[in-house]
Amino acid sequence: MAGVRTSIHGEWSSKLAFVLAATGSAVGLGNIWKFPYVAGQNGGGAFVLIYVACVAIIGVPIMMAEVMLGRRGRQSPINTMRTLAAEEGRSPRWGLLGWMGVLAGFLILSFYSVIAGWALAYVFRTAAGLFDGATADFTAQVFSNLISDPEKLIAWHTLFLIMTMVVVARGVAAGLETAVRFLMPGLFVLLLLLVGYAMAEGQFVHGLQFLFAPDFGKVTPEVILMAMGQAFFSLSLGMGAIMIYGSYLPHDASIARTSIAVASADTLVALIAGLAIFPVVFEYGLQPNAGPGLIFQTLPIAFGQMPGGAFFGTLFFILLVFAAWTSAISLVEPAVAWLVENRGHTRVYAAVVCGMLTWFVGLGTVFSFNLWSDYRLFGRTFFDLLDYLTSNIMLPIGGLLIAIFAGWLMKERSVKEELKMDDSLGYRLWRFLVRYITPVGVGLVFLNVIEVI
Ligand code: PHE
Repeated sequence: MAGVRTSIHGEWSSKLAFVLAATGSAVGLGNIWKFPYVAGQNGGGAFVLIYVACVAIIGVPIMMAEVMLGRRGRQSPINTMRTLAAEEGRSPRWGLLGWMGVLAGFLILSFYSVIAGWALAYVFRTAAGLFDGATADFTAQVFSNLISDPEKLIAWHTLFLIMTMVVVARGVAAGLETAVRFLMPGLFVLLLLLVGYAMAEGQFVHGLQFLFAPDFGKVTPEVILMAMGQAFFSLSLGMGAIMIYGSYLPHDASIARTSIAVASADTLVALIAGLAIFPVVFEYGLQPNAGPGLIFQTLPIAFGQMPGGAFFGTLFFILLVFAAWTSAISLVEPAVAWLVENRGHTRVYAAVVCGMLTWFVGLGTVFSFNLWSDYRLFGRTFFDLLDYLTSNIMLPIGGLLIAIFAGWLMKERSVKEELKMDDSLGYRLWRFLVRYITPVGVGLVFLNVIEVI
């Protein structure tokens, strides 16, 4: 029966379309904005190594599980989980996993959109030639002027959310496929150009050492949690984004191969972004742990110094906005699909409602950088708290539950039918990882951190 289910929201035109869309979801601010600054705050090398290990042994198996559940359920994550739980003779309360994902998606998008707004602002600043010949002091000043102005931040946040909701309202497939097909490779090429600059003009070896020479003295339970959280965030796992994209996947596509392709592309982009940024950081005496402003303070220096920098810089920020855009869409898609399925709303109405809600929560992030910058909750600003709560707690819990459902609660026959991997070595490896390594790994990281608190 599962074999004939189709999605009421449509299907990707091909297997490649799914790979592109999932890559579009995965590659975003998480790779280019967040990875470098979190790696910087957590001491570099050892963090990066743990992050890559988390991608390989926790991320890929969970991604396969998530795609598998999505393709079998063919609905919004909430209804997919309810349907599959019923089929497998499990509690309907598994729908709550979908709800947690919807909530995580809202919370993430609320700050994601504010940061994407920074990238939008930088498109115009770079295009105007503001950074020509810029020094480190100057780029720091420009950044601080932007984030200290709530009105500007709200304007950019609003614009980005409108862009996102327009695409969501029209349905994912159409715009997304073409956007990802052409823009992702463009972004990649520009990142390579920046790496070229970093090699020629920056302290490349120092950057390389910082990123890849692990200093295990710097590893604390907190660093491991951050690395795991970053893996979940960057791969878009644990909240249903990949599950809903899986629900539009044609039946004949190989889940294993597509998941590995998406995870590899995502990790490669993050590492290359790190290679572009840290040599510049060291060359100009900036701090690797500068925080969320890191790329906005370093890359403009590079663009300001290189020939044709205003042009390449503008193009870079445009592509960064596109990368953020294709991720943002996947953050609301589970909620929108549910509103359409269960409430009978049109996509347009659903997108408007979700957009307004997200906009409102996003104000908290806007004010974290100015009006509320002195307020702390659990030692964090509102933005930091949201980011921490979603990446390091909600997404890993979501992933853990997905692994338990796919590894322990579904009948093996159903899993095999959907993964179409027979009894191959790959299948057995996946099953082992999803049943033992993933739950134990995520569980241990949590326990360690709790002990420390
Ligand atoms: N993976 C996206 C990025 O790296 C963010 C994201 C997280 C998207 C969770 C969807 C779900 O920018």
